[in-house]
Amino acid sequence: MEPFTAVEIIREKRDGGELSPDRIDWIVDAYTRGVVAEEQMSALAMAIYLNGMTAAETARWTAAMVDSGERLSLPKLVKPLVDKHSTGGVGDKITLPLGPLLAHCGAAVPQLSGRGLGHTGGTLDKLESVPGWRAGLSAAEIASQLAEIGAVVAAATPTLAPADRKLYALRDVTATVESIPLIASSIMSKKIAEGTSALVLDVKVGSGAFMKDLPRARELAETLVSIGAASGVRTTAVLSDMSAPIGYAIGNAVEVAESVEVLRGGGPADVVELTTVLAEEMLRLAGLSADPAGVLASGAAYQTWRAMLRAQDGDPDAPLPAAAHVRELTAPADGYLAELDAYSFGVAAWRLGAGRTRKEDPVQHAAGIVLNAKRGAWVRAGEPLAWLHTDTEEAIEPALAELEGAVTVTATEPEPRPLIIDVLRG
Ligand code: URA
Repeated sequence: MEPFTAVEIIREKRDGGELSPDRIDWIVDAYTRGVVAEEQMSALAMAIYLNGMTAAETARWTAAMVDSGERLSLPKLVKPLVDKHSTGGVGDKITLPLGPLLAHCGAAVPQLSGRGLGHTGGTLDKLESVPGWRAGLSAAEIASQLAEIGAVVAAATPTLAPADRKLYALRDVTATVESIPLIASSIMSKKIAEGTSALVLDVKVGSGAFMKDLPRARELAETLVSIGAASGVRTTAVLSDMSAPIGYAIGNAVEVAESVEVLRGGGPADVVELTTVLAEEMLRLAGLSADPAGVLASGAAYQTWRAMLRAQDGDPDAPLPAAAHVRELTAPADGYLAELDAYSFGVAAWRLGAGRTRKEDPVQHAAGIVLNAKRGAWVRAGEPLAWLHTDTEEAIEPALAELEGAVTVTATEPEPRPLIIDVLRG
């Protein structure tokens, strides 16, 4: 005999009520068991979307999603566990240099990641462009790699927060993704189940992000930090600009190549800045003192990257895949590059084959875009602005169409835009 009915809970939320902890526990569990039907959860998700949830409801909802599955049981490590999550962006490869950097500085970083959907890339898709690299690790393999190397990037196991897996797929098809309590509980349930003790969240703001405006992004950041506090995970949220692509590379292999440049002491200034800021917060939460900017500049973390790839059967010396077709995008006029719209570049890279439309689709490892200039640079009409890479020639025209209007060239130099907007500490 079930203690509640879905209908009474949907009605309560529809009418603006606050759900009690036992109702939240029941509905999340009953949905995972298949007792609550998809159409009932759709109605409840829409009621939550429209009426929101209190901080207490959101924290309980998160805990119920964690309890819907198993927690990753990591043996006690000598190194402090700390993780990072990004709400998703264009050219956002920061996980790749960050894991080896933190591991080099003495932390253990258990990055359980997903694949890309839509215009934002997925970390696993990027790393799978390294010949041989394997995303599917057992819990025992994750634990031993953390102990030995300190950095691991692996596919989230199906038993980790299964309620979120089901609910996320449902939200995707019911226009209920963009709800702050639902996004925050979805992200945090997976990180809490993974067992990290500290977490830094990179909350992106701008056209290439989930949250297009600062007030909504700030509200999401505050909600994430408060769930962390309620769950005993030391949490910091960094608000960062996502109105233009990060770095020069957008795609899979091209982002791996750019990450390697950063790990070897070079790379684009914005990738280095964001990696360093996130690393400093992670080190602070982990209670470690190190100089991440100095470590990056020295190239020392590159050896940890190589060890991380090898541990997952990847060959760090093998050439990365190259695209069959490369097309130039040229500057429309002389002037300063005032805008490179992140969303349009993300969609164009996706059209070239770097991303997928359905979760079972394959991605092209060599597809993507490599910029030749960043916002603020002086460009000349007809000179290359970017190169489009793909294995499917017929994808080039739709990608170019996506980029129409994505580039703005002006006679006056644009105001610099800070990459780091704010840091919220729990
Ligand atoms: N990422 C997640 O994991 N969940 C959301 O709801 C949105 C982004």
